[in-house]
Amino acid sequence: FKRIKGMEIVQLSGAIGAEICGIDLSVKPNDATVSAIEQAWYDHIVLLFRNQNLDLDAHTAFASCFGEIARHERPKAIRNEAAELGPSVMLVSNIRKNGKPIGSLPDGEMMFHSDTPYREHPDKATTLYAMEIPSHGGNTKFANCYQAAETLPDDVKSKLASRRAIQVFEYGAVMKEGKFDRENGRWWAQPVFRKHPVTGRTALYVSELMTEEIEGLPEDESRELLEFLFEHQAQEKFQYEHVWRPGDLVMWDNRCSIHARTDFPETERRKLRRLTIKDEHPVIMGEPPVVSEVAAE
Ligand code: SIN
Repeated sequence: FKRIKGMEIVQLSGAIGAEICGIDLSVKPNDATVSAIEQAWYDHIVLLFRNQNLDLDAHTAFASCFGEIARHERPKAIRNEAAELGPSVMLVSNIRKNGKPIGSLPDGEMMFHSDTPYREHPDKATTLYAMEIPSHGGNTKFANCYQAAETLPDDVKSKLASRRAIQVFEYGAVMKEGKFDRENGRWWAQPVFRKHPVTGRTALYVSELMTEEIEGLPEDESRELLEFLFEHQAQEKFQYEHVWRPGDLVMWDNRCSIHARTDFPETERRKLRRLTIKDEHPVIMGEPPVVSEVAAE
């Protein structure tokens, strides 16, 4: 592990994720600590802070250190408990009151995705704070999309160079067969290779839940290529699987990672609070990554 500014940084897997120990997020960090956290975040993509005690104000104050908090775009018809907490808060929860979920994405397994790629300006970061967690399951799996891009075969890289893919979502969906309805306007054509505005590295910017079509390719070829990419990016060697405990705060970079959720018992309560952070940079088309043999070893 590394020690910086009184914090210990401990890697969570060979591919992605680090735990930051020795920091109480309910006390607003100073500028030097924010910079150290930000650097660790660029290096590791997913950061975990255990044993935190964050009310909404403290969670908001921490997330605001990294940029402007985004609004959570909830369809008008959804009037749940989370909506009463303010326009930016999303509760991820299976708890129901009078038969109605108090939050979003209530039940079961969820396919790999990043957050908000279906918008012109996707949010750069997501922070998720665990309040109630089932005895088993409901783990969040994170995968490193830089490594996914770098390890693609050369012919696939060439085929995808300069291409865009349609990212689309239907509010609340966790799994799908077939395609989402684009009528609700939740879709956008994003670069398949995305250049990270800070690290300069290229990430593969597609996901099984949200990416439906590679523009400019015949439908069959686009589908076949996407299926290959979904399988490729979900390999365990690119992943860290997070087993939640109440008091965990996890912050991830949506520009270079995807995440998915494992199934969990519907009879047990699960409740997390989510705030996302806007990206101050536009989405940038990336070049297919060239990895030298020395770097790849
Ligand atoms: C999400 O994808 O935002 C939720 C992940 C989770 O419930 O673990």
